[in-house]
Amino acid sequence: MSKTNLELKAQANNYPSLKLSDRHLCDLELIMNGGFSPLDGFMSKNDYESVVNNMRLNSGSLWPLPITLDVDDKFLSEISNNSKITLRDKEGFVLGILKIEDIWEPNLKVEAQSVFGTSDTKHPGVHYLLNTSKKNYIGGKIKKIQLPHHYDYEDLRHTPSELKSIFKKNKWGKVIAFQTRNPLHKAHFELTKRAMNDLSANLLIHPVVGMTKPGDVDHYTRTRCYKHVIKEYPKNSAFLSLLPLAMRMGGPKETLLHAIIRKNYGCTHLIVGRDHAGPGLNSNNKPFYGSYEAQEILHKHQDELDIEMVPFKFMVFIPKNKTFKAIDDVNQNEKYKTLSGTELRQLLDQGKGIPEWFTFKSVAHELERSNPPLAKRGLTIFFTGLSGSGKSTLANGLVTRLLQEGSRPVTLLDGDIVRTHLSSELGFSKNHRSINIKRIGYVASEITKNSGIAVCAPIAPYEEDRSYIRKLISKEGGYFEIFVNTPLEKCEERDSKGLYALAREGKIKKFTGISDPYEEPKNAEIVIDSSDESPEKLVEEIYEKIVDMGYIERVK
Ligand code: PPS
Repeated sequence: MSKTNLELKAQANNYPSLKLSDRHLCDLELIMNGGFSPLDGFMSKNDYESVVNNMRLNSGSLWPLPITLDVDDKFLSEISNNSKITLRDKEGFVLGILKIEDIWEPNLKVEAQSVFGTSDTKHPGVHYLLNTSKKNYIGGKIKKIQLPHHYDYEDLRHTPSELKSIFKKNKWGKVIAFQTRNPLHKAHFELTKRAMNDLSANLLIHPVVGMTKPGDVDHYTRTRCYKHVIKEYPKNSAFLSLLPLAMRMGGPKETLLHAIIRKNYGCTHLIVGRDHAGPGLNSNNKPFYGSYEAQEILHKHQDELDIEMVPFKFMVFIPKNKTFKAIDDVNQNEKYKTLSGTELRQLLDQGKGIPEWFTFKSVAHELERSNPPLAKRGLTIFFTGLSGSGKSTLANGLVTRLLQEGSRPVTLLDGDIVRTHLSSELGFSKNHRSINIKRIGYVASEITKNSGIAVCAPIAPYEEDRSYIRKLISKEGGYFEIFVNTPLEKCEERDSKGLYALAREGKIKKFTGISDPYEEPKNAEIVIDSSDESPEKLVEEIYEKIVDMGYIERVK
């Protein structure tokens, strides 16, 4: 660290500290390394308003999306205009100092509408604004102390000046950037090679590894895939570098941002295909933007941005001559093949193997390794229901059945077990019950991530907690909610622990079903009533359902 940096670091300890979110960290890295040039800080109010309304910075430079620093009221109470704050990463390392120029409360709905053209929260960019973003923005220039540290793929990360000097050293005059947030397949390989040949240019594979669309293939798997694909290009013709961008999935406008970034990284061309940076479908199952709207907007602004667009249509495979063609060039009656993301996921779920026309064997192998068939993935089976509904009996029976099947390790997280080992200090207030369920959810998500089976059986009376953990666990593997809908009268009649009697006498307060609510699940995968059926039969019913869903191999 240079002397000035050491001085700045010493000064930084005097200012209020802000721990940055993942998105802020990505933005800050690109502000400080020059990838977002001409930005030299988080946007001031004037720049923000000008970008939201006119797609330009106050200086007149084209800039499509706000790059802002959102903070909560508590942090706001520690700062004032013209004061300085220290920006830190999650571990507390100092990254930079921001001199506050403006503090304001933006209208996030108006921002969503003008920037993304919608307020539909199915759009990930809008979802972030309306559900995650804090309600105050602060803007100001940043003094860099150090770039965020990455523990992964250090050798594949470059600043714009590093990439430019690599291009210069290799005497690469024309460099085509290929932006991606997906694994690369043969169609991508073919179109990039075609672009290289047509323009006599070199290629920069420039995948986003900051934040992409929720549900995307994780960047570790993707990077392993990219490292395989890069070897398929002629020697010294293509280069791989990872981009720490937080995508907003802003479609056409985000395409302009991608062009600005690639220009900053020394590229002369940018490939733009169908639905570039597309956010998926809206609440009415319609695309947010037109398929080629991104190409149209960049075509309009490419001269000003001084980077040329290389447009590509959707590519399909022609089995007859084993080549890829743009869909518009396919002759009538000519047979062609495509594989959508959903179809690819289905093939992986079922362990059917990815066809060789679609992807390189090495890439298929990586994807299969990261996405084993459902019967080999982890899963959580989450029983919920009143005390005495039969959850524990069924959970124990199911655990035994799964251990007999023997494909994965099984862990039982029964209500009583958890309250003894994980939550012994908690009571039964709404807040304590939430904490209890979230702890169960966290442990179950770790078990699921590591290919085991977690069988949970708490009361879990609140829908909000159940949906929270459903979301958490579904990212890692399978999730089944089983609502044990045994009527309260029956549970009370059983009263195996004698707690209902005590609750009726008022000796136990806030007892679920008696003096505390139980919100019935609306979207449980299985609903059962244990009143008049033997546990053995019900366990078999649940087990069969799990087999039907593909999570356990059917014995033939
Ligand atoms: S929760 O709401 O999900 O956190 O509850 P849980 O951890 O599953 O509860 C475990 C057992 O605690 C006993 N118990 C109570 N249940 C409900 N309300 C109150 N106030 C209460 N106090 C103690 C109850 O027997 C639960 O066990 P099960 O296995 O459900 O009978």
